[in-house]
Amino acid sequence: MKRNPPRLGVLLAFEGIDQSGKKTLSALLMERFRELGIQGERISFPDYTTPIGRELKFYLAGERDYPPQTRHLLFAANRWERKRDIESWLQRGKVVLANRYLASGVAYGMAHGLEKDWLWNLEEGLPKPDQTFLIDIPPQVSFARKMKERDLYEEQTDLLKRAREAYLDLASEGNWEVLDGTREVESVFGDLYSRVREVLSSRGYEITPSPRIHP
Ligand code: TMP
Repeated sequence: MKRNPPRLGVLLAFEGIDQSGKKTLSALLMERFRELGIQGERISFPDYTTPIGRELKFYLAGERDYPPQTRHLLFAANRWERKRDIESWLQRGKVVLANRYLASGVAYGMAHGLEKDWLWNLEEGLPKPDQTFLIDIPPQVSFARKMKERDLYEEQTDLLKRAREAYLDLASEGNWEVLDGTREVESVFGDLYSRVREVLSSRGYEITPSPRIHP
């Protein structure tokens, strides 16, 4: 059996439906890492800069029509396109923050009626997150936060409802941290940061306020 290379860094995944605050929270976390001298990298999926990412952009703009399996293969392939980068950051001991990752593929795939096991199989072999955070909000809050210029998926309340349900189902099976994303960002960040501290401390990172470079 082929094994993934050993790694020193930590991979944290941020999940949630659109407008849940994933990007804001991971940006705040990167800022905190900078203050602490921890080396971090942030990556978002879909990554629209890759060839498959560009295709996904067309799809999400309503300019392509794919059967459900094809588009979910593309979403997963887009993560495989960045596998080597993620592994290399981890091998260099960095803390990698992923805005959407494996679980987005599974939750949105399930929301489209695809089978959970089939979807997880597409992700098998990619670096696994050390901790997944679900920033949980109901679809009404997503709509209230962004009323215009919503993409193909963002427009569909039912889809968001099913994606949220799928996320909660996955969270109950895995060791995820579920945060109530309807609160003020400072409050969500406070809870997020205390869990991140625990994860990093358990992996030997020294979290001191004085700037230092890890490792
Ligand atoms: P974004 O708004 O975070 O850029 O994501 C675009 C949409 O793509 C969002 O509605 C969620 C969806 N999506 C999937 O369906 N599967 C995936 O694997 C990923 C990463 C995103």
